Amino acid sequence: MHLVLATEAQKAERDRVTHAAWGSPLTVEQFHQRELRLRAHPWCREGMRTWLLCADDGRVLASCETFLNESWLRGPDGQHVRGDSFSIASVFTEEALRGHGHATRLMDLVAAELERTSPRGHAAVLFSDVGAPLYRRSGYHETPAWDWHLPSGAAAVPASVTLLGDVDVAAALGRMRRPDAPFFLWPSPEQVDWHLERERIYAEVLRRPRPEACGARVGDSTALWAMMARYGELVVLMLDARSDAEAAALVETARGMAHRAGLAKVVLWEEPGTADRVSRLPGAIRVARDGALPMVRPLRAGLPSAPEVPFPRALWV
Ligand SMILES: CC(C)(COP(=O)(O)OP(=O)(O)OC[C@H]1O[C@@H](n2cnc3c(N)ncnc32)[C@H](O)[C@@H]1OP(=O)(O)O)[C@@H](O)C(=O)NCCC(=O)NCCS
Repeated sequence: MHLVLATEAQKAERDRVTHAAWGSPLTVEQFHQRELRLRAHPWCREGMRTWLLCADDGRVLASCETFLNESWLRGPDGQHVRGDSFSIASVFTEEALRGHGHATRLMDLVAAELERTSPRGHAAVLFSDVGAPLYRRSGYHETPAWDWHLPSGAAAVPASVTLLGDVDVAAALGRMRRPDAPFFLWPSPEQVDWHLERERIYAEVLRRPRPEACGARVGDSTALWAMMARYGELVVLMLDARSDAEAAALVETARGMAHRAGLAKVVLWEEPGTADRVSRLPGAIRVARDGALPMVRPLRAGLPSAPEVPFPRALWV
């Protein structure tokens, strides 16, 4: 058994088999077109790779993708040092091949390869939809995962709020405070736009309007969000709220945008920096996250434990 990087033809072949897990409600061809479009996106062109675990006869046994992320690790002098982390997505074994340890072997080999080839490697991260045990075997540890849900609402945009469009993402990210944590991953503007590209794709295929804005700012506070059309949700990708009043104004705006786009609710991933403010929003309900369990596997010594790593929704792949 060995690990290889997929060719374009092999990627297309994997699109057709992984459709069973992630394709609905798209047809196989629509899903393949979605994948082609996402792979052509600047964020993926920069740092996405598709890995295959192959049998000795070349048969593909399992596959996954890795995406490159900027990450920051606090050194002994208290300063954060930049390194590379890798987000792993789309771990897949065809049904007839499951239960033989292929996914585990793939995860072990990919992590070993990342360790070997990344001199500034910090960590591999993933967002498990199948719980923690499978990935714990390969050295990943989970972080707690809670969401906050609010119903969409017909409220007007508060006068103090400025709406943000796709072209404002880089400036918005630049304004945001980075987490006060020993280790964190920070999304690039291209990664945030990758979420918006998904939004654009589903808006086109499902023939529905995109929300009028992809974020908002008020005072020194900023939020970015994206539509998850299939689930009727507006998900907050990043939130930097400097006061309760500004948190309320941003989330009120998100609820209004969700309502006008025909979405039922706004979903925020709980993060240490904003959990208290979000918990004080009227109508906010805390829910154990269903799927997307963040897990971390260090690629070097000196990383803090997984529960200390903050995960904004923008990092999800
Ligand atoms: C999850 C998946 C990749 C596992 O592939 P695999 O090659 O069978 O994995 P392994 O043989 O290494 O490990 C199998 C273990 O995963 C567990 N597992 C598989 N699917 C699971 C699920 N939906 N929920 C919880 N555990 C699951 C199995 O119970 C098994 O555990 P056991 O060995 O204790 O019985 C495969 O089932 C798959 O492709 N599923 C559909 C896509 C998917 O959900 N991918 C994961 C996204 S995070």
